[in-house]
Amino acid sequence: MGKFEDYVQEVMGWNEEWQKFLQSEQVDRDDDIWKKLDGLTDVLETVQQPGSLNEQQLRGLQSQVEELHHNMEDYFIKRQEIGTIFMRDPFVEIGKHTLPPLPYAYDALEPVISEEIMILHHTKHHQSYVDGLNKAEKNLADARKSGDFSLVKHWSRELAFHGSGHYLHTIFWNNMSPNGGGTPSGKLLKEIEKYFGSFDAFKKHFTEAAKAVEGVGWAVLVWSPRSRRLEILQSERHMILTQWDTIPLLVLDVWEHAYYLQYKNERGPYVDNWWNIVNWNDVEQRFLKAKQLTWKPY
Ligand SMILES: [Fe+2]
Repeated sequence: MGKFEDYVQEVMGWNEEWQKFLQSEQVDRDDDIWKKLDGLTDVLETVQQPGSLNEQQLRGLQSQVEELHHNMEDYFIKRQEIGTIFMRDPFVEIGKHTLPPLPYAYDALEPVISEEIMILHHTKHHQSYVDGLNKAEKNLADARKSGDFSLVKHWSRELAFHGSGHYLHTIFWNNMSPNGGGTPSGKLLKEIEKYFGSFDAFKKHFTEAAKAVEGVGWAVLVWSPRSRRLEILQSERHMILTQWDTIPLLVLDVWEHAYYLQYKNERGPYVDNWWNIVNWNDVEQRFLKAKQLTWKPY
């Protein structure tokens, strides 16, 4: 019964989080979504006595959780349709990225990182990524207007380089604190232990990955929504033409293996024809899920 009880524990944590969330959203207590959540709470209370959970109850619980999950998704979609998220947190317009303020003083991380480095790193380096990203976005917007994409390769590179630079530094500043160090706790610690075995094993892996990055770059702990677990990656420079902190929605494989047998070396016709088979319904589903994840705009 161990794993059943683990599942119940997990659902209880999930249930609590949703309650807190609905409270923070000031959702009316008479709302249907609250009733369903309260119903789940009642069931959880009856099954949390050790050994009291049988398989039938478990199945009932699972279907109740599943239904609630759909309700929550609908809630988010409706909420986005009426634009509440964007009224609170407007999106960043083309070429309008800004340098986020540091969440602490320039000398706050001494002696680990000196004030001089922090000033240069933030005001010169990070600022130049913001400026470069804005410039790339504006040039690509001009290309869309004029239809002249002769420099699309150059501006896509700039978009990736400066975009990743801006987004990664924005994460980086907040990943550090004068009161930092020690070990994580709660759910993050549990997840780290689950995947890496222990916090020390994770730390060793991350440290070695960071030290071994070829040339310049980053060590990155990521969450993979697909495998539903953590992973450690290295990024050479800021990217290889990607923008970290973005989520792919529509992808087109242009490796030769994807078209060579049929189109030989003619990538152009393959790309042109490909538009006839795009599943926009799938892209939209990915978009609606991805859109639920929002950070403060800069
Ligand atoms: Fe940097």
